Amino acid sequence: MTLDSIASKRVLVRFDFNVPMRNGAIVNDFRIRQSLETINKLLENNNKIIILSHLGRPTEGVYDETLSLKPICKYLSKFLNANIKFFSSYKAKIKFEDYNIAMLENVRFNTGEKSCDSNLSKSYALLADYFVFDAFGVSHRRECSTYGVSDYLETYAGHNISNEITTINKLINENSKPMTIVISGAKVSTKLIVIKKLLDKCDFMILGGGILNTFLKAKGKEIGKSLYEKDLVNEAKSILNSDLASKIVLPIDLKCESNLEPKNIDEDDISSSDVIFDIGEKSLEHVKSIINKSSSVFWNGPLGYIEKKPYDKGTIELAKTIAQHNCFSIIGGGDTLPIIENLNLQNQYSCLSTGGGSLLTYLEEGSLPILNKLNL
Ligand code: 3PG
Repeated sequence: MTLDSIASKRVLVRFDFNVPMRNGAIVNDFRIRQSLETINKLLENNNKIIILSHLGRPTEGVYDETLSLKPICKYLSKFLNANIKFFSSYKAKIKFEDYNIAMLENVRFNTGEKSCDSNLSKSYALLADYFVFDAFGVSHRRECSTYGVSDYLETYAGHNISNEITTINKLINENSKPMTIVISGAKVSTKLIVIKKLLDKCDFMILGGGILNTFLKAKGKEIGKSLYEKDLVNEAKSILNSDLASKIVLPIDLKCESNLEPKNIDEDDISSSDVIFDIGEKSLEHVKSIINKSSSVFWNGPLGYIEKKPYDKGTIELAKTIAQHNCFSIIGGGDTLPIIENLNLQNQYSCLSTGGGSLLTYLEEGSLPILNKLNL
């Protein structure tokens, strides 16, 4: 079932254009670039294309200009050098007169999108002859545009999701051991929940960011004013008390902001006013030695507070170490990719994934709601 078998048809395509934005401008366009292979293939095949995506987490039924897809439509038009007609509602008539690509407004403005309302899914399905799904980044959600519409239209996989699933399966199936998983970054709650199951699969689990602080707190350590997830401390304690806890690599020193100055502090010497912003120098060396003995590495989320120097050091050094080491590597998550691209290391890994939560969910569960419909 390739896209060639639906040439010349009207296709509804779900991408994940949930890209980082600042003051209406796109900060990193990785997810948009990853959609080009599918768009170009459909254009080459004379398809009429209707693009669906979400951006952020708006309240359904309420228009929020800051989360409109208009800037993304404009950006993509320039990128493709093609006229893309923007429609603010899925109820509009899409006639494909002087354009072959239409983009609909943020699907999450539509009431019923998140709850996978069947009437809304049917309305989307009426727009086209076939559905193409190429939004790996949001494939862990069971919403109208990520799942519901596939109940009413024959569904095909786009190129990006096919490539990503193939590469990730290789990591899982080839059982390339020792396997190291690095989990860090902002969304603590989603990630902490998957750690337990992922510990079973890996040999080393390196933690950073708010997740790490939550584990340090669970260990009874002073973490000063560092961010952590209070509600998950008990969960972290139970993980630390489990048989698999020895796989978790916790730092022995930390880079903290102490009296407004960056300071490398041993784990037992942190004071109540310090803030942990990165792993420390000795810990970084230990992390590097683990990477250098790993056959496969999966990494999601920056290790430290990358927006502020010198707290980006751990993340930068980790990126370079994985790049230089000959291993199978998957790097995922919107916050990590801009760093990789700034360092010009994007071609040094087995796969840069568009997924964050979806990648973790797939690693943990080995399936995603839409996958059964895609024959992947
Ligand atoms: C992401 O950025 O992780 C995806 O686009 C999914 O977004 P969501 O967590 O708001 O569903």
